Amino acid sequence: MIFHRHITRSGYIMMLSVAMLTVIAGSFYEEAFSQIARFAARDPGVRTGSSGAGGMLSGLTELEQRIFGTGREQFEEVQSVQGTIPDTELGLGPRFNLDSCAGCHANPDIGGTSPAINPQVEVAKKEGASNDLPPFIKRDGPVREARFKHNPDGTADGGVHALFTISGRSDAPGCFLQQPDFRTAVARQNVVFRIPTPLFGAGLIEAIDDDTILANLQAHSATKQSLGIGGRPNRTSGRPNTSGNDGTVTRFGWKAQNKSLEIFSGEAYNVEQGITNELFPQERDETPTCYFNATPENRTNFNATDPLEVPSDVVKFAVLMRLLAPPTPAPDTDTIVRGRKLFGDVGCTMCHTPTLHTGKSPVEALRDKDVNLYSDLALHNMGPGLADDVSQGNAAGDEFRTAPLWGLGKRIFFLHDGRTKDLLEAIQAHAGSGGGQYVPSEANQVIAQFHRLNEIERQHVLYFLRSL
Ligand code: HEC
Ligand code: HEC
Repeated sequence: MIFHRHITRSGYIMMLSVAMLTVIAGSFYEEAFSQIARFAARDPGVRTGSSGAGGMLSGLTELEQRIFGTGREQFEEVQSVQGTIPDTELGLGPRFNLDSCAGCHANPDIGGTSPAINPQVEVAKKEGASNDLPPFIKRDGPVREARFKHNPDGTADGGVHALFTISGRSDAPGCFLQQPDFRTAVARQNVVFRIPTPLFGAGLIEAIDDDTILANLQAHSATKQSLGIGGRPNRTSGRPNTSGNDGTVTRFGWKAQNKSLEIFSGEAYNVEQGITNELFPQERDETPTCYFNATPENRTNFNATDPLEVPSDVVKFAVLMRLLAPPTPAPDTDTIVRGRKLFGDVGCTMCHTPTLHTGKSPVEALRDKDVNLYSDLALHNMGPGLADDVSQGNAAGDEFRTAPLWGLGKRIFFLHDGRTKDLLEAIQAHAGSGGGQYVPSEANQVIAQFHRLNEIERQHVLYFLRSL
């Protein structure tokens, strides 16, 4: 009896405990499940910690290291109109977007892309300049250059219209120039933007053979076909707006419109800063009262005694960019590994090729190397939502180079016009049905597959992207 009562009592206590535990555990799981249901993947934001970029490639010779140093010094130099302002070099303007390469290519280190605080706000009034700030230039927005789609007579334009002039600057007496009428252009939806592309690892991109790019485009052709992905190289095939005619694959810039780092440097020096050089010897505006220096303003220094000072700035910029190390990704974690796999599973890698390989560069550090750029360097039709109506080389208004994703973890602004700071929005913007003159985006099926992932899987992909 006592025994029985004992059992009954302890049985009762046990039953009670189990019941209570079940209730507690039940509500715990219920809570956890409802949290999962409520959980929505989000961009974890710019990765903190060291910049992981800005240094030189490893394995450079001592001479290459010294060349890198002179290149970087030049890249950081600030230009003024006549070189009369301390610590500046001559050549700025008469029209320009900023007064140094490093100002636009700044984040997360020299050679990168748009910094958090836009230096174009300050340069508008620098040294007494009288520029109005165009409405699309914001202190906390991306560095931008502006292109007009059409000329006033309706014919295609597509060229860069510099934001600022040197009018009013203490070193440009007597020069009076009007800025382009950006307010009207905005009102007529005639203006489109580009933000800087990062330059880390650019020498590795330059050292990839054309055949490697073409073979990669042919790879996985059945999968690509089933996903509706094509892609083609841009070429210097003698179309207007291209700088060469040799028919080889071009690869730099948002539309892969430019052949080499040296040509890009020459063009950027004149287009962004108004500095004429041996590749682009004429001023873009030759108004006599604003024409202060002999052109080209920057030249080879045949009289330099130090051989490293003989090259023109354009050559020095190109060498710096060639020798900049690629960005260092974050170390793998479980979630990053899963994200990388899902990135491949849904088909992002059909355009964002994880790795290409370099050819026979004369620089040992660039020769026969893996390039983990996450791009096929080819053009894709991206739909009317991304289209900027600007054609360059073979690239039509809706075609863009697959943006290399290395260094993405540290980037603040995304897509060619810097329209978003949010990775999910950047991914969503890939999708678009056809409209007007444009076919549907080639990325549509891949983006649909990304959306079929659950929120946790999508979060892994975002962590992976921010690890790059
Ligand atoms: C006003 C800001 C600005 C300045 C100053 C500037 N850039 Fe750029 N840079 C850009 C933009 C915007 C792009 C993208 C252009 C495009 O694709 O249409 C770019 C792209 C590039 C690229 C292409 C990289 C790639 O992989 O696509 C190179 C190379 C480059 N710039 C070099 C330079 C050099 C060298 C200087 C200094 C002479 C310079 N830039 C000054 C804004 C700037
Ligand atoms: C059809 C080819 C294609 C596919 C598929 C594709 N992308 Fe892209 N991606 C591009 C192109 C082209 C751009 C540049 C678009 C622009 O700036 O207008 C880009 C840009 C991006 C950017 C912005 C990079 C920057 O520097 O601003 C991110 C992030 C990105 N892609 C992630 C993804 C992810 C994640 C997937 C898979 C879900 C994916 N992409 C699938 C072609 C593709």
